[in-house]
Formats: sequence, C-alpha cells, structure tokens
Amino acid sequence: MLTIIKNIKKLVQVEQKIKLKVSGKEMAKINTIDNAFLFIRDHLIADFGSMKDLDLSKIYNETNEIIEIDASGKMVFPSFVDSHTHLVYAGSREIEYMDKIRGLSYEEIAKRGGGILNSARLLHKTSEDELYQQSLKRIYEIIKQGTGAVEIKSGYGLNPQDEMKMLRVIKRLKETTPVQIKATFLGAHAVPVEYKQNQTEYVDCVINEMIPMVAAEELADFIDVFCDKGFFTVNDTDRILMAGMKYGLKAKIHANELANSGGIQVGVKYNALSVDHLEYVGDEEIKVLLDSETMPTILPGAAFFLGMKYSPARKMIDAGLPIALASDFNPGSSPTGNMKLMQSFGCINYKLLPEEVINATTINTAYAMGLSEEVGSIAKGKIANVFITKEIPSIEFFPYAFGSDLIDMVILNGKVI
Ligand code: NIG
Ligand code: FE
Repeated sequence: MLTIIKNIKKLVQVEQKIKLKVSGKEMAKINTIDNAFLFIRDHLIADFGSMKDLDLSKIYNETNEIIEIDASGKMVFPSFVDSHTHLVYAGSREIEYMDKIRGLSYEEIAKRGGGILNSARLLHKTSEDELYQQSLKRIYEIIKQGTGAVEIKSGYGLNPQDEMKMLRVIKRLKETTPVQIKATFLGAHAVPVEYKQNQTEYVDCVINEMIPMVAAEELADFIDVFCDKGFFTVNDTDRILMAGMKYGLKAKIHANELANSGGIQVGVKYNALSVDHLEYVGDEEIKVLLDSETMPTILPGAAFFLGMKYSPARKMIDAGLPIALASDFNPGSSPTGNMKLMQSFGCINYKLLPEEVINATTINTAYAMGLSEEVGSIAKGKIANVFITKEIPSIEFFPYAFGSDLIDMVILNGKVI
C-alpha cells in the first residue's frame, strides 16, 4: 500500500542519516523541509522531499492504489515516543490527589499505605481482562495525542502472580494495538506491607522468584528499580540489576527523584539505557552521565503534579548531555500520557527550546527504549509513525498552545488511525 502526504507546510525532523540520539548544543537543531511531501510504502517511510521534486506519475506507474493526503497549511511531525509509563494500572487515585492538595507529600502518602501500595491493592482485585480493557483505553487516548511508541512498566503487582498479570496485559497490548511497545519489569517499585520489616527478603523474592518467571515467559524487555530514599537502596538496586543482566534484561531505572540517592551511579554502572526522574542532580551526577551511554530522562508531569523541584535540565544540556522527556503516565504522580503537554512543561518549567523538547520527546526517548533505528524521526526505512497537525503558524506554536489539541490525523505503521 502506498500513501503520499503532499503540500506539507513543514515536514519536521527529517534525517538523511539516522542518529541514535542528540546531545548538548545539537539538541537545539531540527531539520525541516518547507512545502514537502512524505511517501509511505506499506509500514515504512519510503521517501520525502520538496514538492517540486515530487513526480506523482512515477508513483502511479507502480500502482493505482495510492492514498493521497493533502496537508496544505499543516505540519507533519514524527510521532512521540514515550519511554517511561506505568499505564497498565487499575482504577485511579484521585483521593490521594485531594490529600496532596491538603498538603501531604508523596512520601507521607506512601508511608500511610497509599501511593503505589494502594494501586497494588486495586490491581490485585482486578481481573486480567478488566485490566487489559482499562489499559487499552489509555493506549487509544495517547495515540490520539500523538504517541506512536511507548514503554510500559509492571510494578503494581508486587508479588509474582500480580506482576505476571501486568506483564501479560502489556504483552496483549503489544499484540493488539498499532503502537510499538516495550515492557519493563519493575517488581522493585515499592516494598509490600507484608515485607515492611524485611526489605531484603522482598528483594530476594524479586531476584529468585520473579525475574526467572518473567524471563521464562519472555515477558520483559527491560528491568527497573525505584532506587530512592525510602524505597530501594543502591545495594538492593545493584543486586536486582545484576540478576536482570544475567537474563539479558537491560536496566532503565527510577533514580534521584527524592534525593541524591546514588541511583544515577548504579544505573550507569550497569550501562542502563536510561535513568529517569533526576530531580536531584549535581555536578558529580553530571560528570558520571557524561562518561556514559545512559540517557538522562526527565518526567515533567510528575514534578509538576507533585510540586517537586525541577531537574536541572538546562544545566545538563549546557554541559553537553542529551535529555529525554517522558510522561511517566501513572495514577499517582502523573495521570496523563500527553507528550505535547510534556513539551510545554519542558519549555516553561525547564527553560528548554521548542527544538530541544522536540528532540527530547522523539529521538532521545526512542534511544531510551532501544528503538532509535526504527522510530523517533522522519528517515527513510524508519517505521511510518507520524502525525499531521491542524493548521499552525510555526513549530514553536505547537508547545506554546499548551492546552490545545493540535493533532489532525495520526498515521501509525503507515496506516491512518
Ligand atoms: O514514576 N516514582 C515512582 N513511581 C512512579 C509513581 C507511581 C505511583 O505513584 O503510582 C513514578 O512517579
Ligand atoms: Fe515512573
């Protein structure tokens, strides 16, 4: 099947040669083509260029079955890649939202048995099919908002059966939806109540029971640990990442959200694909990241929603680091997967340029999922995941109009959704 999008006002983030990620000053650069066409064959990007170079008769010689889309006045962007979500969860937690409004902190809510443990209780009571149905709705919500690839974590099970239930739901979503999905095993998300007095025993259970089960059914691509003050220690994290590595699970971890926890260092030690959150980052952490291949990932929705201090993103980019921005879509700290909103937060709260947030929500998040050869930019041979905007005056208008839905049409795997 052939699809041609023509008269595109601006085709955004085109690449002749695929880059795996962009860092430092390079983050402020985006290649574009004005008055462009984009040619899709089957599920891949086949060609693109300026309208003056488009020879439609040549294409019609190949076949008559061509879908032509006129994008006059509109722009085409590569779909968002969301490299950090917990979008498989049961129910919602707006009661804690009220607690937060009344002044309780994230840690206080967690200590009272709220937070992640509250979601774990709800998930335990929910059937696998019901969990799938609830999660499917969220997938279609983010598709409409422009996301084409998403990472999803377990971590609301906290026992072998319920963790497996979550991962099977993620597998089913992989098989039944048009987005690219990567699954991350996050058994060490919180310590369940029954292990409160013996955290090490729970870590042993993650290592000796859960990881082998997950690996036997090939349910996870990556492994994660919430390495932070009040959650899992550097030593716990080290043990879990080592065990995951033995089963080929690459690390992507929650780090430095609540303190300079050493999470970044242990993540880098295991050559993690990404370290995520990063509210607490000093010169020492920046130096460690500069000597690594790990993608520093900021979750602006969580920092906004919890009223936390903001990660020093500007400082990190100015030091030469790459930055990725992901949604953290979850019921406790970021109940949205809207990546356009993450771009706006990136600009306003972290002083990033529109070009920087575009790179941070596409190619760099693709890197953080090990997918930057497949998605994250407009390049020949990449998967045809793009969205067409409504009529907009400029690229900058996109993150600027932070409350507006500016997406007109979504194409995933070359098909209009
Ligand atoms: O990334 N920080 C740890 N975990 C999630 C929160 C999950 C929850 O509160 O349900 C996060 O923000
Ligand atoms: Fe998270």
